[in-house]
Amino acid sequence: MKEIIIKAEKLTRTYKLPAEEIHAVRDVDLEIRSGDFIAIMGPSGSGKTTLLDSLGCLGRISSGRLSVLGRDVSQAKENTLVFMRRKFISFIFQDFLLIPSLSALENVELPLYFARDKQDRGRAVELLQKVGLQDRINHLPKELSGGEKQRVAIARALAISPKVLFADEPTGNLDTKSSQEIFELFRKLNKEDGLTLVVTTHNPQLGALADRIFYIKDGSIVPKEASGLSLSS
Ligand SMILES: Nc1ncnc2c1ncn2[C@@H]1O[C@H](COP(=O)(O)OP(=O)(O)O)[C@@H](O)[C@H]1O
Ligand SMILES: [Mg+2]
Repeated sequence: MKEIIIKAEKLTRTYKLPAEEIHAVRDVDLEIRSGDFIAIMGPSGSGKTTLLDSLGCLGRISSGRLSVLGRDVSQAKENTLVFMRRKFISFIFQDFLLIPSLSALENVELPLYFARDKQDRGRAVELLQKVGLQDRINHLPKELSGGEKQRVAIARALAISPKVLFADEPTGNLDTKSSQEIFELFRKLNKEDGLTLVVTTHNPQLGALADRIFYIKDGSIVPKEASGLSLSS
């Protein structure tokens, strides 16, 4: 069995608002191993984004324990979380978040530039080839389809050679065909490169392409039957 790279024990995240506390994630126990392709599924507001942000060191947990890549980050300071994200963890989002004035190639080069990698351009081209965009490298985001934009975002996310790629509703803005293609690309990156993937979706057909699904409801991991999701929904 592959090594455990993320382990959460009673992971809880509470948003404190002036008038109330929202328990967005409660008492989540889970383990993710190197090379896993995991889907997190649940209805809107169930805590998927909050859980993903926590596992990906984007936000601090309120209580419980979280270990990521051999480091206990339960009480980590912001600069430790920044270090984890810069070195080991990449995210992609529903809105792609590409820089509009930069070409596909330049968007992918950007993290390499920050990492002061000398072989920027060749590597950026390679990454765009890997996601099937070798014919689009000089296009601006506005000259790309939604699915192509998400591929650029994936290539950019791969630039740091992350140990884990987190994707929050990566197909939320895409049509059925492009969504399927993005998940097939995930599958390929997982199989060929052993990339560990943690992806939220509320599309059961897409979730089924992952190796393992965590169902979340009202902030807690629940059995599939209790999730309120079915294959037909
Ligand atoms: N920054 C925030 N401040 C306060 N409440 C939040 C914040 N982000 C999310 N929430 C609340 O936490 C709960 C879980 O939200 P979220 O993790 O975004 O769920 P999902 O991604 O499944 O839609 C929801 O009730 C949401 O309104
Ligand atoms: Mg969300």
